[in-house]
Amino acid sequence: MGPLSAPPCTQRIKWKGLLLTASLLNFWNPPTIAQVTIEAQPPKVSEGKDVLLLVHNLPQNLTGYMWYKGQIRDLYHYITSYVVDGQRITYGPTYSGRETVYSNASLLIQNVTREDAGSYTLHIIQRGDGTRGVTGNFTFTLYPKLPKPYITINNSKPRENKDVLAFTCEPKSENYTYIWWLNGESLPVSPRVKRPIENRILILPSVTRNETGPYQCEIRDRYGGIRSDPVTLNVLYDITCGFILFAPDGPDLPRIYPSFTYYRSGQNLDLSCFTESNPPAQYSWTINGKFQQSGQKLSIPQVTTKHRGLYACSVHNSATGKESSKSMTVEVSGKWIPASLAIGF
Ligand SMILES: *[C@@H]1O[C@H](CO)[C@@H](O)[C@H](O)[C@H]1NC(C)=O
Ligand SMILES: *[C@@H]1O[C@H](CO)[C@@H](O)[C@H](O)[C@H]1NC(C)=O
Ligand SMILES: *[C@@H]1O[C@H](CO)[C@@H](O)[C@H](O)[C@H]1NC(C)=O
Ligand SMILES: *[C@@H]1O[C@H](CO)[C@@H](O)[C@H](O)[C@H]1NC(C)=O
Ligand SMILES: *[C@@H]1O[C@H](CO)[C@@H](O)[C@H](O)[C@H]1NC(C)=O
Ligand SMILES: *[C@@H]1O[C@H](CO)[C@@H](O)[C@H](O)[C@H]1NC(C)=O
Ligand SMILES: *[C@@H]1O[C@H](CO)[C@@H](O)[C@H](O)[C@H]1NC(C)=O
Repeated sequence: MGPLSAPPCTQRIKWKGLLLTASLLNFWNPPTIAQVTIEAQPPKVSEGKDVLLLVHNLPQNLTGYMWYKGQIRDLYHYITSYVVDGQRITYGPTYSGRETVYSNASLLIQNVTREDAGSYTLHIIQRGDGTRGVTGNFTFTLYPKLPKPYITINNSKPRENKDVLAFTCEPKSENYTYIWWLNGESLPVSPRVKRPIENRILILPSVTRNETGPYQCEIRDRYGGIRSDPVTLNVLYDITCGFILFAPDGPDLPRIYPSFTYYRSGQNLDLSCFTESNPPAQYSWTINGKFQQSGQKLSIPQVTTKHRGLYACSVHNSATGKESSKSMTVEVSGKWIPASLAIGF
């Protein structure tokens, strides 16, 4: 083979995920040129990346070589060929536009898709013996990237010991197995928890407050698994005579006490903030949008005019993730009377 230059689109292969594995099976016939091998680089490629099918120990004095998709060497499976004389590259019906054959017979496949998975056949034609070819093949298996699953619930406010609840893990595929997790532990199969339809649907026959979660579902295929985000149940529980508490809930719009907004210089400012929330809300204060402190109360001794501004109380319920806030404008008047006369005022 002459010192032929490769097409310019040689590309270093970078890959992150280990989602596509090329497993290589070489079957060379006849065995007189048994040392020729094909190596997929990198051996593991994720979908959308590139794979280079390296041909090692290529025999001397070749006329050309042809790549086929699959194991059948006919026109229909023909991808591309390289003719050494004139360095001519031609394309067949199976050429997708993403394959590049190099002068050394290696084949680059860019932007690998699921359809690219399978075996490829390389046909090598040697000079001086036009009819003798060397055929090899290999397969690589595309590992499709697992989608992140998610949980749907058919009742968002189940009543304790009353409602039958169904969790469904999406997406549905016959290729996945489904596993359920509660508090980070995989759920055992018990008479209490039935798991029909290949575990995709988890039925809680009567949910109790200590089964509120977090629940996660996991999908697995042959190559790995991925879990959903955790889901926590809101169980309405019956406290004595039919009194139903919503838990968690809130916070409501907070209220600030005292509600008067005019202060004189030297007075103490003591504000308190209240809201309804279950569990209790976290409180914080800002003045003119600047964080001041956490807590339900805000105290500033002996205010001056520089303490004028917009005072806001923000409340946050970590269970519901909701927040609310209330603000008021505080005015502080200047000292009109000398400090000595103000004593006892
Ligand atoms: C290609 O590989 C498969 C196994 O993956 C084998 O059964 C088949 O005979 C091989 N074909 C050729 C032409 O070597
Ligand atoms: C064949 O050529 C390609 C592109 O220049 C190169 O990346 C690859 O390493 C070569 N293969 C061998 C076996 O030298
Ligand atoms: C390749 O061809 C050259 C002449 O073009 C010849 O000298 C050499 O022996 C050949 N090699 C093989 C392996 O056939
Ligand atoms: C590979 O995909 C990228 C982005 O989708 C695109 O820009 C590029 O042209 C593709 N390359 C080939 C050879 O199809
Ligand atoms: C939820 O699914 C379970 C099991 O299929 C069923 O018994 C229950 O009635 C469903 N609940 C609602 C609100 O649809
Ligand atoms: C299941 O896997 C087969 C082959 O592995 C594939 O053809 C099919 O599309 C997959 N089904 C789903 C729903 O992903
Ligand atoms: C869950 O609650 C039920 C009744 O509400 C109780 O019988 C059971 O022991 C509790 N399980 C755990 C693990 O706390």
